[in-house]
Amino acid sequence: MDLSSRIAGLRINPAIMNASGILSFAPVLKKISEFKIGALVTKSACYDGKEGFENPIIAKCSDEAWLNAVGLPNSGCESKRKELEEAYPHFKSIGKPLIASLFESSDEKMGKAIALLDNVCDAFEMNFSCPNLMPDEKTGMVIGRDPALVKKYTRAAKEATEKPIIIKLSPGPYIEDRERIKEIVLSAASAGADAISSINTVPGGMKIDIFAKKPVLTAKYGGLSGKVIKPIGIGCVYTIYEALQSSGYNIPIIGIGGIETAEDIIEYVEAGASAVAIGTFLVGMRLEQIENYLSFLVENIQMLSKALGANSLMELRGVAHE
Ligand SMILES: Cc1cc2nc3c(=O)[nH]c(=O)nc-3n(C[C@H](O)[C@H](O)[C@H](O)COP(=O)(O)O)c2cc1C
Repeated sequence: MDLSSRIAGLRINPAIMNASGILSFAPVLKKISEFKIGALVTKSACYDGKEGFENPIIAKCSDEAWLNAVGLPNSGCESKRKELEEAYPHFKSIGKPLIASLFESSDEKMGKAIALLDNVCDAFEMNFSCPNLMPDEKTGMVIGRDPALVKKYTRAAKEATEKPIIIKLSPGPYIEDRERIKEIVLSAASAGADAISSINTVPGGMKIDIFAKKPVLTAKYGGLSGKVIKPIGIGCVYTIYEALQSSGYNIPIIGIGGIETAEDIIEYVEAGASAVAIGTFLVGMRLEQIENYLSFLVENIQMLSKALGANSLMELRGVAHE
């Protein structure tokens, strides 16, 4: 059973990757690349680097619901380049694409960041969707909720590289108004986006420590992730697929949000995803557990796809729309 897919010319086999921010530093990515995973995604970085929020940055609300407000800490793209330079030949040799995640607050810096990393990765994922920003920070979701900014930054990214540009979107605008996410996604598509990743965490979550009588996270609000957000992720992918198809764009979607089982993955594919990324479910797993989990997952996707009458995973892509 063929579980591979193509994202902007890159073969992803199987069509599963890690979500940015989860296990996403090069030495760990190198280790998990030996397992049943088709592509690897780095932690988001920006040209100059920045500090994140103070601890606590993660809060568990239930087994299926996690909050985080990490604040995208990173030591800048010079350092990211060194990190990836060492690992990239390994990914090339095993034929698994390495996707570098970036965020910026100016198109000029974005061009510089892309130029620095251009020959140590296979594609860029532009994080236009992080909800956990410092006051006055003009990046992440501030870009991703504004169709004009999405267009401007996507165009700038496309001008800076020949490599595929994946635009990662927030579910925030979709929750507010489904028409809004269509407008945003079509802005990205018209500016040349090669793929769309959907979703980042669901913005606006809060957990209060009732004994301390204050929010648990230093940033107070955090992005919600884990199984609980899957219905929103599925709705987003379904809506984005419909918007792209009806406007004549055959752009692949990477489905993200609450993925754990083979059923979850097939649900995303039927909604219109060409590949998926797994985040929260991998948090806290040891390498050996990740290896076993991915092997089991792939076996289950094969069995389930067959039971659904498909000869390949991609035969199921978008079937929920027919
Ligand atoms: C601790 C943590 C850190 C994250 N860091 C990033 C990041 O650096 N860049 C990014 O685009 N998304 C980041 N995300 C969002 C995930 O990539 C993913 O979109 C989201 O968590 C939903 O998927 P999940 O429910 O499988 O976790 C982060 C999520 C978590 C939980």
